[in-house]
Amino acid sequence: MALASLEHRLQELFSSPSLRQKPLYEAAQYALEGGKRLRPKIVLDTATTFGCPLPKAIDAAVAIELLHTYSLIHDDLPCMDNDDYRRGKPSVHKVYGEGVAVLVGDCLLTEAFHTLASSKKLTLKEKKELIQILGKRSGKEGMIAGQYLDITSANQKISLRDLYFLTLQKTAALLSVSFVFGAVVAHASLQDRKVLHNFGVRYGLAYQIADDLQDTDIGKTTLVSLLGKRWAQETIKNLKGQAKGKLSMLSRPAPLLLKLL
Ligand code: IPE
Ligand code: IPE
Ligand code: MG
Ligand code: MG
Ligand code: MG
Repeated sequence: MALASLEHRLQELFSSPSLRQKPLYEAAQYALEGGKRLRPKIVLDTATTFGCPLPKAIDAAVAIELLHTYSLIHDDLPCMDNDDYRRGKPSVHKVYGEGVAVLVGDCLLTEAFHTLASSKKLTLKEKKELIQILGKRSGKEGMIAGQYLDITSANQKISLRDLYFLTLQKTAALLSVSFVFGAVVAHASLQDRKVLHNFGVRYGLAYQIADDLQDTDIGKTTLVSLLGKRWAQETIKNLKGQAKGKLSMLSRPAPLLLKLL
C-alpha cells in the first residue's frame, strides 16, 4: 500500500510533460522502473517503527529513491563501470545514449532535493534537516567520495583501509541515511537516530559486500576479491549480528527493521 503510493509519486513526477520534455521524462521513468525500492522501504519502515503516519514520510522516501537511481545511471556509464544492464534491462545509456543518461541522472539528483524542499507535508525544520543529511552523505563526504575512490582505484593497488572506506561510503552512507530519514520525519530522539545510523552503516556494509560477492567486475578490487568469499560470508554474518545488537538499543521494539536482516 505504502509502496504503491511511492510508485504512483515516482510516475507522477515525470508524467505530464510538454511535448518538448517528453523524451527526457520517458527516459527518467525508464530509469526508475524495476528497482527493489529497498531504500524507500527502509524510510517507511523506520517511520512506522516510530509511529509516524506514512503520508508524512513519503516525500523523504521518494527523494532517497530518486537520488539512488541517479547514482545507478551514472555508475553504469562507460566512463564508470561500463555496465550494459541494470534493473533487469539495458541501462539508460544503452537505450537513450550517454548524453541523455548523464542528464537523466542530473535530473533525478536535482529532483530529489526539489522534492524535499517543496514538500507540503514536511515542516521547514524537517526539510532543512533532511536536505542537510542527504547533501552530506550523498556528496563529498559520502557516496561521491566512495565512487571517486572506486573508479580511480580500478586496476591499481589499493590499501585495505581505502577499500573499507570506499565500500562504506559508496553504499552504506545512503543506506544509513534511509534509516535516519525515517527517524527524522518521525521525530525519534537523537539517541535513537544515532543508533539507527550505526545500525544502517553495518547493514549497508553487509549489503555492499553481498553485492560484491555476486559481481565479478574485471579489474575491480573489492573486499571480496582481496579477502575471499569465505571471509565475505563470515563478515556479512558478523555485521548482521552487530546490526541486530544495535536494534536492541533502540527505545522501542523494531520488528520491521529486524526483518531486513
Ligand atoms: C544497487 O542497489 C547498488 C548497490 C548499492 C549494490 P540495489 O540492489 O538496491 O538496486 P535496485 O535499486 O534494486 O536497482
Ligand atoms: C554501486 O556500487 C554504488 C553506487 C551506485 C553508489 P556497484 O558498482 O558495485 O553497484 P552495481 O554492482 O553496479 O549495482
Ligand atoms: Mg560502481
Ligand atoms: Mg556498478
Ligand atoms: Mg556491484
